[in-house]
Amino acid sequence: MGDQMKKNQNQNENENENEKKPNSQGPITAIVLAAGKGTRMKSALPKVLHPVAGVPMLSRVIGALKGASIPDIRVVVGFGEKLVRGVVEPLGVHCFLQKQQLGTADAVKSALVDELSGLVFIMNGDHPLVNSMDIKSLVEEFKNSGLDIAVISCILEKPGEFGRVIRHHGELHSIVEAKDASRETLKIKEVNTGVYLMKAELMTELLPKIKNQNSKGEYYLTDIILLAQEESYRVGVIKGHKRLAFGVNSQRELARASRYFFKKKCRQLLDDGVVIIDPENTYIEDSVEVGPASVLYPGVYLRGKTKLGSFCVVEPQVYMVDVKAADGCIIKAGSYLEQAILHARVQVGPYARLRPDTEIFEEAQIGNFVELKKVKFGKKSKAGHLTYLGDAEIGEDVNIGCGTITCNYAVDKKKYKTRIGDGVFVGSDTQFVAPVEIGSQAVIASGSTITKDVPAGHLGVARGRQTNIEGYRQKLDEKLKVSEDE
Ligand code: UD1
Ligand code: CA
Repeated sequence: MGDQMKKNQNQNENENENEKKPNSQGPITAIVLAAGKGTRMKSALPKVLHPVAGVPMLSRVIGALKGASIPDIRVVVGFGEKLVRGVVEPLGVHCFLQKQQLGTADAVKSALVDELSGLVFIMNGDHPLVNSMDIKSLVEEFKNSGLDIAVISCILEKPGEFGRVIRHHGELHSIVEAKDASRETLKIKEVNTGVYLMKAELMTELLPKIKNQNSKGEYYLTDIILLAQEESYRVGVIKGHKRLAFGVNSQRELARASRYFFKKKCRQLLDDGVVIIDPENTYIEDSVEVGPASVLYPGVYLRGKTKLGSFCVVEPQVYMVDVKAADGCIIKAGSYLEQAILHARVQVGPYARLRPDTEIFEEAQIGNFVELKKVKFGKKSKAGHLTYLGDAEIGEDVNIGCGTITCNYAVDKKKYKTRIGDGVFVGSDTQFVAPVEIGSQAVIASGSTITKDVPAGHLGVARGRQTNIEGYRQKLDEKLKVSEDE
């Protein structure tokens, strides 16, 4: 794809040199309409911020535009302005406030704070399926078409609420909104995807002429087509892929959009040699990497910067965010891992929880109901059952017995460290009251509450000594019988 991108760029450069069509060459500006509330989402969150397979809808649109090397991206914001700005400004785009949602034409006007030249690419912020290649090829096609303005259309079996493309003798005449359309017009299956390409000068000239005399009382951007037609501009349609028309207006459509990306990701991983038992029930975000011959069981959910090596096994219902796992790791059913690093052949779970800043070295094993936070856990060490380790450094070949707890959080609300050297054997039901340090090869007796350091090779015992009292039960029973008789 990188080569392909370069090739396209070179083509563009050559065109720039050879052709003299000042209007359609030069800079490209993208305007993304994202001011609407999205009432049908029935959510307090602005519609365009709803995540589609983990990434806000609008961030996906911006990502596609950036991937198509569009340098000037302008987002029209309105509802939830501050929240939207907070998410998209860090991506390097400019936001423009549309104070009132008076329609799509008015929205575009809000982004025209300076004089534009060259080409303008307009699309809706709620069409998350659009990708960089779509945008690049549309721009190419437009440049080669000789048109002054193009609407991107597609054919839909159920054209529903989409604006209909009206053609006269096969040529584009205008766009009619479904709400303003006659029964005859509603039968047309060619729809406006909401994507347009036009020369900047045409746009600045015609936008102010758009009126709001329609059923919604809004300024429709679509009216620019008829106006351009009347002014004898070269008006045309470019057919695009159906996914360009996929807009998210409801939670149902949002779920469908997420499914689209999850399926796409699974297909890509399957093609790369990952074993996915049930791709319909495996949820992997775009940014995740999985090495070949790794196996993903149903219900696995991999997010963010997660990167798994080869020959890993991830059992059912495992949730991982930003986890790095080297080759041959096994993450057993029901485990929850965040920002952890697993070296080669580590085993985790079932039902383990790894919290941020945890690093587990080669061949170590973390078993069921074990929670680790800010821990370095040495090579071949084991914590098999029911354990909490926090703010700890555990050496190599350490055995952590069942029910071990590091008491890392003190009454002063500060965290303290537990250090355990190589080869230490920790008996079951031990508490380490941090800060505390255990020398290598030491042994900790079961049931100890360790408050002081244990030197290397020593036995640490910290529990009441056992006493056995002879005949105790018999005496007790006799005593109880007397009290019953009374
Ligand atoms: C629009 C098109 C329709 C096309 C459809 C594709 C118009 C008049 N109609 O209809 O032909 O088939 O998209 O999805 O353009 N927005 C603003 N400010 C506004 C109004 C809208 O930013 O004042 C934004 C919305 O947030 C949304 C986008 O523009 O992202 C589309 O607006 P919407 O009102 O949903 O247009 P549609 O009825 O879908
Ligand atoms: Ca105890």
